[in-house]
Amino acid sequence: MAVPLVCATGLGRAFDGGEVQALTHASLTVNEGEFVSLMGPSGCGKSTLLQLIGALDRPDAGELRWRGQAYAALPDLAGFRSRRLGFVFQSFHLLPTLTALDNVQLPMFEREWSHTERRERAQGLLDAVGVAHRQDKRPAQLSGGERQRVAIARALANEPDLLLADEPTGSLDSASASQVLALLRALHEKNALTLLVVTHDAAVARQAERTVTMKDGRIVSDSALPT
Ligand SMILES: Nc1ncnc2c1ncn2[C@@H]1O[C@H](COP(=O)(O)OP(=O)(O)O)[C@@H](O)[C@H]1O
Ligand SMILES: [Mg+2]
Repeated sequence: MAVPLVCATGLGRAFDGGEVQALTHASLTVNEGEFVSLMGPSGCGKSTLLQLIGALDRPDAGELRWRGQAYAALPDLAGFRSRRLGFVFQSFHLLPTLTALDNVQLPMFEREWSHTERRERAQGLLDAVGVAHRQDKRPAQLSGGERQRVAIARALANEPDLLLADEPTGSLDSASASQVLALLRALHEKNALTLLVVTHDAAVARQAERTVTMKDGRIVSDSALPT
């Protein structure tokens, strides 16, 4: 049976004093263990929806719930975000002055893990995403595909329940893109990680079990729902 992990109801979000209605009555439930792709033309509101689900932004209207509990009632939203959610972005967002290993350890500092534990966990994650041999390199010394692998390892640093990815293959050549995609798919299958992936890439959408499509700030189709 489907168990809702995150549930968005009637979300609205406007920018520029209401001139830009980025999101209108958007409702979406992502169930535990699903791999959902979110598609639609540029500017239709995909990133806005992802940011709201990721508690990086607040809606003007509507409600978000995590395992039934309203985001607004969560006692520590920043803590919720860093413990439960992992983020992957098109442009990687790695810190350029830190090595791969240190980038992956960054989110771990709020945990009560020792230096050794952090380091070993980060090494394990880099190994899991296939770039353990690059752990001492800085982002500029890595290929795009390697950077995104490091970014995925960092997103997994605190063992999130939901991975939110915004165009994770958008900056990669097609060979790296398909490797990163295979990695996401494997993480989903092996670790029952729930994935919500914004993408333009039909190959990504094909890997997902469910595709949600947006247009003009609205959700216009959902392959999980009868049409
Ligand atoms: N911080 C912002 N300030 C002003 N307008 C924004 C902001 N974020 C998004 N928008 C606008 O909201 C609409 C939806 O944007 P976005 O969610 O980024 O779309 P997508 O990710 O589907 O390309 C666009 O018209 C965009 O210009
Ligand atoms: Mg976007």
